[in-house]
Amino acid sequence: MSITPVITIDGHSGSGKGTISARVAEHLGFRLLDSGALYRALGIAAYNLKIDLNESIQITELMKNIEIKFGANGPGTVLLNGEDITLMVRSELGGKMASKIGAIPEARKALFDMQLAFRDGPGLVADGRDMGTVIFPDALLKIFLTASVQERAERRYKQLIDKGIDAILPDLLRDLKERDKRDMERIVSPLKPAEEAVTIDSTDLSIQTVVDQVLSLFSTVIKKSLQR
Ligand code: DC
Repeated sequence: MSITPVITIDGHSGSGKGTISARVAEHLGFRLLDSGALYRALGIAAYNLKIDLNESIQITELMKNIEIKFGANGPGTVLLNGEDITLMVRSELGGKMASKIGAIPEARKALFDMQLAFRDGPGLVADGRDMGTVIFPDALLKIFLTASVQERAERRYKQLIDKGIDAILPDLLRDLKERDKRDMERIVSPLKPAEEAVTIDSTDLSIQTVVDQVLSLFSTVIKKSLQR
């Protein structure tokens, strides 16, 4: 088995996982797995092709016929069968479709090996919902990141307004609550803290404070593993 160390950062939508994972990975020179982007790309593919999400055969067929590439058109870009779908992937629709398709066992199964393949090089930071519980159960450090739903909705609202995109705070709040419920109550790989995860509530913390906490926890874990 690979000995590449893994840090998993799971948690609720809008808890800051993406930004924090990217900064931790950059600081340590580790690879980054944004597993949400895989589910988002798959969700957009299903949406574009009008796939019925209740038809598992259609989902399995879809998986055989799509190729998802990250970063081919520049950092953060996502290509689906050669087409740049970056903007759609990052949209509210992308998040909603990802959460819906993420509840389908066939979709999760199809993405399993693709996610394991990211474990390479000096280390990996894996950002998602089931990174510590299902995909990398032997991770050296498992973080569960959360924040109050009101704070998460306000952060998202600010992000959208800063980008010049119209947004309605009560709608964002409602969508986030729906997404939390779907992600936490699904039968397969529901969002929950891994048994040994360290929970960080980022409601009143700056991004840098959380990054520093994760880096400090990781250096403690590394020291302990070297003493063994
Ligand atoms: O992390 P994100 O907001 O990009 O994720 C979007 C949705 O994708 C999320 O609401 C549920 C789904 N997802 C998942 O089911 N499992 C993952 N490991 C990552 C995301």
